[in-house]
Amino acid sequence: MKTIIEKLDENQIDEDILAKAGEILKQGGLVAFPTETVYGLGANALDEEAAKKIYAAKGRPSDNPLIVHIADVEALYPIVYDVSDKAKKIIEKFWPGPLTLIFEKSERVPHGTTGGLQTVAVRMPVNAIARELIREGGGYISAPSANTSGRPSPTSAEHVAEDLDGKVEMIIDGGNVDIGVESTILDMTVEPPMILRPGAITREMLEEIIGEVDVDRALIAEDDSQAPKAPGMKYRHYAPKAQLIMVEGETDEVVKAIKQIAYEQTCLGYQVGIIATSETADLYTTGLIKSIGTRNNENSIAKNLYKVLREFDEEEVSYIYSETFAKDGIGDAIMNRLEKAAGHHVIRATDITRLQKYRRVLFVSNSDNCRGPMAAEILRHEDLTQEYKIGSRGLVVLFPEPANQKAEAIMRSQQMTLEAHEATGLAEEDLDEDTLILTFEESQKWKIISDYGNVKNVYTMKEYIDDEREVPSAHGQPLVVYGENFQLLKELIHKLAEKLNEEAKSL
Ligand code: TXA
Ligand code: MG
Repeated sequence: MKTIIEKLDENQIDEDILAKAGEILKQGGLVAFPTETVYGLGANALDEEAAKKIYAAKGRPSDNPLIVHIADVEALYPIVYDVSDKAKKIIEKFWPGPLTLIFEKSERVPHGTTGGLQTVAVRMPVNAIARELIREGGGYISAPSANTSGRPSPTSAEHVAEDLDGKVEMIIDGGNVDIGVESTILDMTVEPPMILRPGAITREMLEEIIGEVDVDRALIAEDDSQAPKAPGMKYRHYAPKAQLIMVEGETDEVVKAIKQIAYEQTCLGYQVGIIATSETADLYTTGLIKSIGTRNNENSIAKNLYKVLREFDEEEVSYIYSETFAKDGIGDAIMNRLEKAAGHHVIRATDITRLQKYRRVLFVSNSDNCRGPMAAEILRHEDLTQEYKIGSRGLVVLFPEPANQKAEAIMRSQQMTLEAHEATGLAEEDLDEDTLILTFEESQKWKIISDYGNVKNVYTMKEYIDDEREVPSAHGQPLVVYGENFQLLKELIHKLAEKLNEEAKSL
């Protein structure tokens, strides 16, 4: 089948295109269209044959009921058995909008649409294209998300085309959706009403209008052991090609943990993806990093969620590590979708971060223009199983001078360089828990301790790697002395790398 793709502007809808789309629906065909949540795959909801086509196009199990979309509140009454006062209050407040309500169905709704259930899910979208199309198409349009079953819901017409080109009569391109996660589903056939799927309309928002609202326990469960009440929620909706793992905890701890794993996995030869936020994306150093939005506005995260997951499916990553989000507001829906995609694979950041003792190694000398920068650069060339920021500092640095020229000459003869180096003085903030400080001489160590109090993690190289040899200052000496220093440093730094790697294993 040749799929027609038509662009429509929500603010200026082309009536001819709309009429054509409406005609397809009335004839029992399929039209994908934008809503404010995700794109829907529309068919005439009162026509059982049309419903069958939806299941076929999506490759979706036919016991999974469809949501009937309407354009006007009056359209609700003929298809349901009863509308309670509570339901009326909710409709008054939240329709049109991202909220689906479940009612006892009337005779008019075929079982093909409800997956054999006696209840029907109804939603009135706010998107103008969606509503005009529903009216044109006869008033009752069943519309699951317009993706192949098992893929993330589409939030743009491109996503729809990826999955359904050639399988549907028409795709209406109305640009990117506003919300990005599917509607909240509220079951009005039980008392108190129960949320079967979290979305942009939250429990708090609903409770403000009608009092107590329950949440399907299967949504709160840590795993998939409880069968959810919305049949569609029981499927592991979308399983990314890569293993998705959520990392929870304080944000800075989460970043540390993901950095740490990404580095180690990369060393082992895996490609790693990272779901970051605009606040944290720059902090990562290894892996394919994608920002999903800003933590200042969780709506931006909801909006990009499925797009980012789709993008990762295109990449050859084996693992995706994702930051986690607070479960309030739309965060609840975001976490629900992410946890499902991860198959509930969640790890605690601190379980990872406690496995790495140091994250930074600083070599401290007197003037930071020779031994220190050489040692740092040599260590950067070692194979380390964990990631460290590696640098050097001086105890008496008056201005940011470049590295000693003889040191640089020796380094160059070894295919390394200190070109970018500028001498930097040691400062209080360098002495944090995460930093290993190594001095070349005993006196340097004691100077640090006397200047800053009894700081942790300050050792002489000798003491730390348990080697008698000391690297003397080559200041004012001929080039050969620098060369000898280099050789000695190389041996000692190699021992240091082994010690760091050994320590990583034993933690
Ligand atoms: O935001 C949305 O709701 C989007 C857009 C296109 O409107 N639609 C959507 O449809 O997400 P779909 O088919 O992907 O998800 C419908 C969910 C499924 O989990 C299904 O099991 C549940 O609604 N559902 C439908 N009818 C139901 C019923 N009578 N009782 C319980 N759950 C029902
Ligand atoms: Mg869906």
